[in-house]
Amino acid sequence: MSMRINLDQNDNVHPSTPGKIKIENRSYSLFFHRHIQRFLASTTPLIPWFVFIISLIAIFYTFNTPFPTHPQSYSSHDIQWEKKVRSSANPRRKDGHIVLVTGVAGFVGAHVSLALVKRGDGVVGLDNFNSYYDPSLKKARRDLLWSHGVFVVDGDLNDGALLNLLFDVVAFTHVIHLAAQAGVRYAIENPSSYIHSNIAGLVSLLESCKTADPQPAVIWASSSSVYGLNEKVPFSESDLTDRPASLYAATKKAGEEITHTYNHIYGLSITGLRFFTVYGPWGRPDMAYFSFTRNILQGKPITIYRGKDRVDLARDFTYIDDIVKGCLGALDTATKSTGSVGSGKRKKSGPAMYRIFNLGNTNPVTVPTLVALLEKHLKMKAKKNWLEMPGNGDVPYTNANITKAKKEIGYKPSTDLNTGLRKFVKWYLSYYGYSNKWNKNS
Ligand SMILES: NC(=O)c1ccc[n+]([C@@H]2O[C@H](COP(=O)([O-])OP(=O)(O)OC[C@H]3O[C@@H](n4cnc5c(N)ncnc54)[C@H](O)[C@@H]3O)[C@@H](O)[C@H]2O)c1
Repeated sequence: MSMRINLDQNDNVHPSTPGKIKIENRSYSLFFHRHIQRFLASTTPLIPWFVFIISLIAIFYTFNTPFPTHPQSYSSHDIQWEKKVRSSANPRRKDGHIVLVTGVAGFVGAHVSLALVKRGDGVVGLDNFNSYYDPSLKKARRDLLWSHGVFVVDGDLNDGALLNLLFDVVAFTHVIHLAAQAGVRYAIENPSSYIHSNIAGLVSLLESCKTADPQPAVIWASSSSVYGLNEKVPFSESDLTDRPASLYAATKKAGEEITHTYNHIYGLSITGLRFFTVYGPWGRPDMAYFSFTRNILQGKPITIYRGKDRVDLARDFTYIDDIVKGCLGALDTATKSTGSVGSGKRKKSGPAMYRIFNLGNTNPVTVPTLVALLEKHLKMKAKKNWLEMPGNGDVPYTNANITKAKKEIGYKPSTDLNTGLRKFVKWYLSYYGYSNKWNKNS
């Protein structure tokens, strides 16, 4: 209060002559000096406390900031970011792999990464958390991964500088590339998202892999959709795949050709996995089994498509744990890439591995049977609308021949649709908070 009065007084004494300035200044400085002395005398005993508190704050910030709730808050130029990437990449077992998983916050990516980290491999994830479906589900998967020590970099495949930085920081032995624009029908609405992620993003990733030292072996997700309009079943890897029925399928087919080019020119070891309709806990909300479950629980109708002449559509539904085993089998049997940078020149020491495998269940089930199983596990009846399948990219039937995958990567699916859907429903009810209500009603 006294300080304020003094300042006000000073404001009121506007100097009119130079002499006055001197006099006024001297009296002001004497006054100010006295106050400083008084202030110092009264606060000197507090100085050690002041130093102590500042030191505590400094210690707190030095040791406590590296673990925020959302580790993505680091920028890629941050030293803490680099520390997290290195630590996440560090294998916890002897001769463990060091794996970059793209699309890690996605359905398959999250499961594969958990399996890798649980057996002691080092894993770093990349995902752009796009809003094709509810990003909060992707963030929940990310948080689950983080609780197991997997660091997820929030970034896009097309950010070449970020990818190069990741390969500079970590000598990845493998890349499991699962990031993609998935879904068949969305291409009608947003075709460029398929080009962005499945074509441009793939090339961007392969460019970084090609220049990485050492070059990683690449295992990536193609799709059963490459079989397109083929009628010969079951689908085998040696069948022609030149009649895609959707833009999604066309970009996956293009991916197989693009990866072949990088294999041929730069010696990248490539394994493409053609997944057949993957389902399970933490699944994708845009897929039929997921949206049917949501609608049945909410008492809303579901639309069941039929083919020509009212033929039921059927899918070779494959449980996520089987797909994960297939991915790990592919990773464990992949041989090293053969390219390297020697005296500034890129060289290939010999041909590198190029493989493609079907990962399916070999037991196609019709969509009405899928609905009946969901009704059984949910203990509720679905309100069904039947419609003829529109010509927007879907195919009537999928069925995998898995002989090659069995022989070369030890792939052996073991979960039938009934068991897999029971596990999915259990997860769904718990994740979306239905469990208590549902248990009471059942
Ligand atoms: N789930 C299936 O039934 C199935 C069937 C055949 C093939 N596939 C393929 O398997 C892979 C995984 O599928 P999913 O079911 O887990 O899908 P998903 O959509 O759950 O996962 C893909 C993830 O990739 C991320 N992503 C997309 N574009 C990206 C980009 N440009 N940069 C960084 N991240 C990006 C998305 O945010 C998403 O989290 C995909 O390549 C998909 O095409 C899946």
